[in-house]
Amino acid sequence: MREQSRDQYQAIAERLLSANHVVVSTGAGVSKESGVPTFREADGLWSKFRPEELANVDAFIRNPERVWEWYQWRRDLISKVKPNPGHYALVELDTLLNRFTLITQNVDNLHQVAGNEYVVELHGNIQRNKCHKCSKFFEEGSIVFEQGSLPKCDCGGLIRPDVVWFGEMLPEDAIQTAWIAAESCDIFLSIGTSAVVYPAAQLPYIAKDAGAFLVEINPEVTELSPLTDISIREASGVALPKIVAALKDL
Ligand code: OAD
Repeated sequence: MREQSRDQYQAIAERLLSANHVVVSTGAGVSKESGVPTFREADGLWSKFRPEELANVDAFIRNPERVWEWYQWRRDLISKVKPNPGHYALVELDTLLNRFTLITQNVDNLHQVAGNEYVVELHGNIQRNKCHKCSKFFEEGSIVFEQGSLPKCDCGGLIRPDVVWFGEMLPEDAIQTAWIAAESCDIFLSIGTSAVVYPAAQLPYIAKDAGAFLVEINPEVTELSPLTDISIREASGVALPKIVAALKDL
């Protein structure tokens, strides 16, 4: 991989510093250096598992045990990992910049563990649970799936992880906040996402249409790459600390 020029980091840092509103939108790639697998890469989750059997509302209705088993496995995996330098750099950006909105498709809670207090969670959070029938929320850690006993709500409905599955709407307040942020930002950074899952994938287009400067951080080319003003072809755990360092040097 070629090294990114220092000028690009400086150019991003200058844009960040002069922006009234900075929006960062993250995907699974941001957590890869923490040990959380991505979805669509060659070694990603969707190369081993079928999304229609696991991350799908009909699959849960058909076979809730199977879906719970998979989410409990992912929960256990995530509970053992830690945020990486990319996550921590985003916490620094939040403190260094004027107005900063962090939007994520990730459900792993690592941005919050790193220290970002306000995160727009487009696809929910694997730590939380809710009733599939009445939508009542359950405290983190209060619900654990065990083989042969499906957790149930007082209303009789099945309790499930509070994540968004294919075939479901995104949380209304999260998507609205994300939309407004994309429309109003001066610079939009798309980090660690293949940018193919809608409506999240629409956000950088909204930002660009509204005049924002578009940056992508991803070791690979994505469908978004042709639209970007700067593409940083490095891991986010490497690139983001460099951006923070460039910002502090200004
Ligand atoms: P994908 O697996 O589709 O894409 C991950 C992206 O991260 C790829 O483009 C990689 O090149 C990039 N990547 C890998 N390592 C990286 C690193 N160290 N730094 C930066 N980028 C890196 O994951 P998402 O785009 O997040 O939804 O997937 C979006 C949604 O699809 C997920 O939220 C999930 C999934 O199905 C649901 O389950 C509803």
